[in-house]
Amino acid sequence: MSLSTRSLRKSYGASRALNGVSISAVPGRVHGLVGANGAGKSTLVKVLSGAIRPDSGSLTIGDWTGSALTPRMAQHLGIATIYQDPGLAPTLGIAENILLGREHARFGALLATGSQMSDVKDCLDHVGLKKPLKTPAGALSPADQQLLEIAKAVYRRAGTVIMDEPTAALGDADRQRIFEVVQRMRSAGVAIIYVSHHLQEVLDLCDDVTVMRGGEVVLHELTTDTVVDDLVTAMIGHTIPPRKVEARALGDVALSCRGVTQAAGLQDITFDVREGEVLGISGLVGSGRSRLARVIFGIESFEAGTMTLYGRPYRPRSPRQAVKSRVGLVPEDRKRDALLMFLSAGKNITLPKVPVRHLGWIRLRSETRIAKKWINQLGIHPPNPRTRPIAMSGGNQQKVVIARWIQAGSRLLILDEPGQGVDVGARDQILAAIRAAARAGTAVILISQEVEELQQIADRVLVMRRGRIVGEIGQDEISEETVIPLAMGSMQQTSEKGSRG
Ligand SMILES: Nc1ncnc2c1ncn2[C@@H]1O[C@H](COP(=O)(O)OP(=O)(O)OP(=O)(O)O)[C@@H](O)[C@H]1O
Ligand SMILES: [Mg+2]
Repeated sequence: MSLSTRSLRKSYGASRALNGVSISAVPGRVHGLVGANGAGKSTLVKVLSGAIRPDSGSLTIGDWTGSALTPRMAQHLGIATIYQDPGLAPTLGIAENILLGREHARFGALLATGSQMSDVKDCLDHVGLKKPLKTPAGALSPADQQLLEIAKAVYRRAGTVIMDEPTAALGDADRQRIFEVVQRMRSAGVAIIYVSHHLQEVLDLCDDVTVMRGGEVVLHELTTDTVVDDLVTAMIGHTIPPRKVEARALGDVALSCRGVTQAAGLQDITFDVREGEVLGISGLVGSGRSRLARVIFGIESFEAGTMTLYGRPYRPRSPRQAVKSRVGLVPEDRKRDALLMFLSAGKNITLPKVPVRHLGWIRLRSETRIAKKWINQLGIHPPNPRTRPIAMSGGNQQKVVIARWIQAGSRLLILDEPGQGVDVGARDQILAAIRAAARAGTAVILISQEVEELQQIADRVLVMRRGRIVGEIGQDEISEETVIPLAMGSMQQTSEKGSRG
């Protein structure tokens, strides 16, 4: 169904999240929506899904026009929203999640009629999700969870599907699966709004693209008439020259892993990372990259092998011990793992650094000074140390966590997907800050699915697959052609056979 908005406005106090936004979505077309962190994209998505009420403006969906939606009305009008973090019931099975909200759901999928079940199966086929119907949603990979969310939308015959950064947490292979489903929905006549920070992906996948900046639409084009640099310029006012890794001498070995092995998980992990080095780690979701980070940070244990930190035995039993040894981790799931949503951004940034024993006002002063420096350096918005993360856009929350750990002065800093969900400008600023930390002697382990990110700042890349290191790639050789085949390995041949459980 076609959807359009007229002059939508929404303010949070003095901050104008939407400042007169008019956009539209048309059946059979994919409309890309891009913009810097805090530009207002998610706010717009929430207005369209009925989660928040705009201050003024109007919406038209099919032949309905009004000033605001409720979630129920949005659903009734055929709008389905897929958020970056899927809102699935983790303990319920695939079929039950799809049926949830429909009449029979409360009795469980067992009572669903035969025709409903065959409908559910058709939807799963449509999105290419081939897992037994009873598999709990929480046990699915991030990509399969996204596909399940899409299957829910298909089951409800949604005429308009809105996707807010659906591929942010996914690697290349999994992204491809989402693209295929989006294309299939487009052919079926669904109107799609697609929010993403992957600008090339938007140009490849979408028919139209809108750029938002500061709550306003600043560019609307056919994607065939647009290149990435046009989008970047509209988003942040300038383009970004690619970074180059400068040649330099590295220091002593910081962390050394020898044969680190878990019962089920990491297998025989052996590598060194030196002071001043940025060691990239690539691999698909589930290849063991984040596990390795958790082991080094004392969240997970290991059964065999040894680690040393600056020549001394190192085996942290908790993150607290790791932090004491001046090891830092920017985790993959920042919202859950890392942010104190109701403390100010300033406190979140300075937490591990400013000693608590300082008198309140001294603490506050140095806190503000440090926080302001990082707000500046990473372009954190709103630029006020007192803002709470809960009132920030997703990408800006992320910058706060990254600022905290870089400024904490770790000797070894592990970053798990630091570029996830941040805009191109912010990503460049984050990479510069990581590089600067390395220049100052920090040993950095950078886990990233973005080959481009690794190309720009890693001194070399280890590729992981199924808990093992399967290859090492030197700085000059880092490219999609070298990294992706190693990361994929034999994975494709062993993907499960379709099951209709
Ligand atoms: N609950 C809230 N309270 C106060 N301000 C808010 C709230 N939610 C969002 N904002 C503000 O509204 C503006 C737009 O935020 P929004 O989440 O829409 O950005 P976005 O374009 O989705 O960014 P990102 O790419 O980082 O996800 C930001 O300045 C943000 O700080
Ligand atoms: Mg957002």
